[in-house]
Amino acid sequence: MTDFRNRTALVTGASSGIGAAFAEALAAHGADLVLAAPSEERLRPVAERLRALHGARVWAVPVDLAREDGPDLLVEQARAATGDAVDVLVNNAGFGTYGRYEELPADRDHREVMLDVVAVERMTHLLLPAMVERGRGTVVNVSSTSGFQAVPYMAVYGASKAFVLSYSIALWAEYRSRGVQVLAVCPGPTDTHFFDVLGRRMSAGGRLRTTDEVVTAAFRGLDRGLPYVIDGRLNYLTSNASRLLGRGLVAGITARTLRPRGNP
Ligand SMILES: NC(=O)c1ccc[n+]([C@@H]2O[C@H](COP(=O)([O-])OP(=O)(O)OC[C@H]3O[C@@H](n4cnc5c(N)ncnc54)[C@H](OP(=O)(O)O)[C@@H]3O)[C@@H](O)[C@H]2O)c1
Repeated sequence: MTDFRNRTALVTGASSGIGAAFAEALAAHGADLVLAAPSEERLRPVAERLRALHGARVWAVPVDLAREDGPDLLVEQARAATGDAVDVLVNNAGFGTYGRYEELPADRDHREVMLDVVAVERMTHLLLPAMVERGRGTVVNVSSTSGFQAVPYMAVYGASKAFVLSYSIALWAEYRSRGVQVLAVCPGPTDTHFFDVLGRRMSAGGRLRTTDEVVTAAFRGLDRGLPYVIDGRLNYLTSNASRLLGRGLVAGITARTLRPRGNP
């Protein structure tokens, strides 16, 4: 099992859901932590719990990563707090938007791209070079099963997660021989606040997965040195549908499934 003793992990979106579960698992495996999310109020209890349960050193940094300067501010604070020791990065923060594209607020879609894509790339650019220099590092990027297909009525989200998936696999291949491991984690529908933020429930026919199952799949992917992992057997099958049936057909089926009620 991957050993995180004497390592310092930065987890974005650590105040709830999959990010909080990553923080918990990393602390349980010996890591110190920098936790980031917009709300200090929601970060504090997570940080206190990890200190009490695992004796980890934990720094909580409230930050809005959808802002252009968010990633730089976060990394500056993380470097100052830890003495430039971050060698595990979990790019987890993200949200989705759902609805007819013309009806979605443009600002919200823009923030979605800033958080789900731009911040992931910027955080990695800021932290990966030092990992390469040390010859040791781990970058975990949370993508989604949505990254394997076009997702009508969630077009920006699907495209954002496709970016994260492709980008991560490319970096995996670039850095695997240089001591830095890059992994894309692809959860399917998982029991978190994600759907409250999205404004629609969905489960792809199965039960919602738990955050612990997602993190267990990620740790398995790290142990095996994989470029990406899909959590859950059913999610694995549905993620491969585009390859088998063709992208257009799968997009059409998804459009019928996700079409909002009412006209048009
Ligand atoms: N749940 C699913 O079904 C599912 C499936 C596939 C992929 N994912 C991906 O998993 C990741 C985690 O989502 P989740 O399901 O755990 O949802 P969640 O419970 O809503 O957690 C989202 C986290 O991101 C943080 N966040 C939101 N806006 C932010 C911003 N502007 N700057 C920094 N942090 C921000 C939230 O902080 P606050 O609490 O302060 O808002 C929270 O800590 C996302 O990338 C999501 O796309 C989720």
